[in-house]
Amino acid sequence: MRQADPMRIGLIGAGNIGTTLATILVRAGHEVAISNSRGPASLQAFADTLGTSAQAVSVEEAAGFGDLAIESIPFRAIPSLPGDALRGRILVSASNCIPRRDGEIDLEGLTHTEYVARQLPATRVVKCFNTITWQHLGEQGDTSAPLQRRRVIPIAADDEEAAQRVAALVASLGFGPLYTGSLAQSWLQQPGFYNRNLALWEAVTELEVAGRR
Ligand SMILES: NC(=O)c1ccc[n+]([C@@H]2O[C@H](COP(=O)([O-])OP(=O)(O)OC[C@H]3O[C@@H](n4cnc5c(N)ncnc54)[C@H](OP(=O)(O)O)[C@@H]3O)[C@@H](O)[C@H]2O)c1
Repeated sequence: MRQADPMRIGLIGAGNIGTTLATILVRAGHEVAISNSRGPASLQAFADTLGTSAQAVSVEEAAGFGDLAIESIPFRAIPSLPGDALRGRILVSASNCIPRRDGEIDLEGLTHTEYVARQLPATRVVKCFNTITWQHLGEQGDTSAPLQRRRVIPIAADDEEAAQRVAALVASLGFGPLYTGSLAQSWLQQPGFYNRNLALWEAVTELEVAGRR
């Protein structure tokens, strides 16, 4: 896997996952622009805690910032993502559809992230960071550990080049990236795979045993 050069990353969503991602991304040497629904003024104090590699911006600015954007917003807010600013860009989708929180959304038989991709047909959507709790995301990355022994973070995408870039990013944070297939196959990243503290080698073994690779 190729090493990730320092990247510039736009974050849409600044809750548990968004602020944790901002923190570990900056720690790993990346630059972030972070946004939420209430506007940059509400995030300035948080951005200041991360130093000069972080800035608070609008959602549109985060969507168009640097190398790729990551959304971690409630699933019901997915239709509000700025399609024009995301056109042609890589969007990592960390959100999950949770009916008790998001209400009933008719996914028409699609996986959660196929649904996101359908809302944004001109965007290179990659599913990642949706199976790990924000606490584990903040604590378990270990760049000194061999790749196979690191906590696995699965990745699904229809665009292989986009998936590779995200895999390099995941590795730069000290996790073990595992490409599990297309967005249609990303049911592996839906409830069932959630919150399981597997090393990369264990996840690969499980998938092989299940005949899914
Ligand atoms: N919590 C976890 O451990 C975890 C793990 C994996 C995946 N996820 C998924 O990640 C997503 C976020 O979870 P979370 O726990 O981080 O949620 P959260 O703490 O409630 O944060 C949600 C963030 O989204 C922002 N937001 C809401 N509507 C928005 C919009 N239309 N445009 C831009 N930003 C908007 C909120 O901004 P305001 O506060 O300004 O409204 C807030 O910053 C969910 O889909 C969840 O299923 C969560």
